[in-house]
Amino acid sequence: MRRDSDTVSFVGLGYVGLCTATVMASKGIRIIGVDVDERRIEQLRKGLPPFHEPQLQSMLKAALRKKRMEFTTDASQVVDADSIFITVGTPSNRDGSIDLTYVKKATQDVGSAIAASPSYHLVVVKSTVTPGTTADVVRPVLEASSEKNCGPDLGLCSNPEFLAEGSAIKGTLSPDKIVIGSIDAKSGGTLSKLYRRIYQKIKVPTILTNPTTAETIKYASNAFLATRVSTINTIANICQRVPNADVETVAKAIGLDPRIGPLYLKAGPGYGGSCFHKDLQALISFSRSRNYEPILLTAVEEANQRQATEIVNLSKRLLGSLDNRRIAVLGLAFKKDTDDMREAASLRVIDELLKNGARVSAYDPMALENARRILGDKVELMPNAISCLKGADCCIVMTEWDEFRKLKPSDYKLSMNAPNIVDARRITKRDDFDGFNYLAVGLGTSS
Ligand code: UDX
Ligand code: UDX
Repeated sequence: MRRDSDTVSFVGLGYVGLCTATVMASKGIRIIGVDVDERRIEQLRKGLPPFHEPQLQSMLKAALRKKRMEFTTDASQVVDADSIFITVGTPSNRDGSIDLTYVKKATQDVGSAIAASPSYHLVVVKSTVTPGTTADVVRPVLEASSEKNCGPDLGLCSNPEFLAEGSAIKGTLSPDKIVIGSIDAKSGGTLSKLYRRIYQKIKVPTILTNPTTAETIKYASNAFLATRVSTINTIANICQRVPNADVETVAKAIGLDPRIGPLYLKAGPGYGGSCFHKDLQALISFSRSRNYEPILLTAVEEANQRQATEIVNLSKRLLGSLDNRRIAVLGLAFKKDTDDMREAASLRVIDELLKNGARVSAYDPMALENARRILGDKVELMPNAISCLKGADCCIVMTEWDEFRKLKPSDYKLSMNAPNIVDARRITKRDDFDGFNYLAVGLGTSS
């Protein structure tokens, strides 16, 4: 492929790398996508994304038709682009601290690839990394492997990503902000120019700062959002214990206060997904390494873990002992419109149900394949909601899928062994469930 300032390389084609690259391709940028996973590369060449994300497949296919995306396992090919994004995963070590192995390896590969290149290259760290990583870890690895010094010939930026699964493409097409932490003016200018080229007339607020502050912004963002979820869940659990209190109305009212705002106030079974838990743990571990105990963040995480117990306790309130009772779990994905089950609350709830001796049947419109891999034969995975409900002593609504909103009370009643419902997502209305034993998160029972 011709070297070109309108070509961008990505190392790591997970959620962040692939969605960002595909959106850039839709804006006319040529993409070289690198990943170590050969099967993933083969599939991508056929236009098949490795995960479900609305709009992604059609955009990927369109980009391939226009020959705007190339996929390879050969990292040396990143040299064909001026800007090279590092988007490999940053998993947790056993103690919760961040594992930078993939970031270091990717940086090394990029450095080696550009070592002999006479042109200016900008390396952009988009993976979520703890404050100081770009300056103190990536920079030395990059300089050593490229045998170049950062500066006039080699640029380096941190450019965190805030996309949420299920709305990754939409969010990337019109982001609420761009954060650019650059080591020097040339790096920041080069990345700003690339984004201006992509967003053209769309004015996206851009924060220009140093790499360490940029990295901190990403953690602060997830820490705040996770804190909101644990806070509203705490209020929900209090509502639960007060006759007639309803967290939905509480959330609606406080959300009207502009100082609070309406989003991330939905009580539920606890947050899941690949980021909140991982990033909070990384931030907690990072803080401790700086001799600071972030008690608020540890409480947010603990509240989240315990939320699963709160949900299971609702089913115990309906059934007494769960031993040998059949529980139908509707929804396994960590939120709707995704097949992702990483850190899903459903896993914590199922674990606890099983510990209590329950027999679990489960259904999810999209995550069954992942569920089979993760849960094996611990639960009975069913092909649809009705078969999941069949013979159940209690149903727990775990994920807020639209499909479950459409279920009628009669669907439950005709299938279940006993009419016991726990709505962990508040997608049903108690008034519709006359004749049922009905409990929902954050809904105090009438006195
Ligand atoms: C992203 C960010 O990169 C991560 O830092 C953030 O915390 C969460 O979002 P994500 O895109 O979800 O991670 O990661 P994942 O879906 O695990 O994909 C990472 C990709 O990088 C995989 O396709 C993997 O095969 C690839 N990879 C990993 C490489 O190409 N090289 C490696 O050395 C390691
Ligand atoms: C999150 C951040 O939103 C995103 O900016 C970051 O880049 C990655 O992490 P994601 O994990 O895809 O994105 O999902 P998100 O929509 O934020 O939801 C996270 C979890 O919180 C889900 O389990 C969701 O069900 C839960 N949640 C969210 C609630 O329980 N209540 C809410 O009001 C909002």
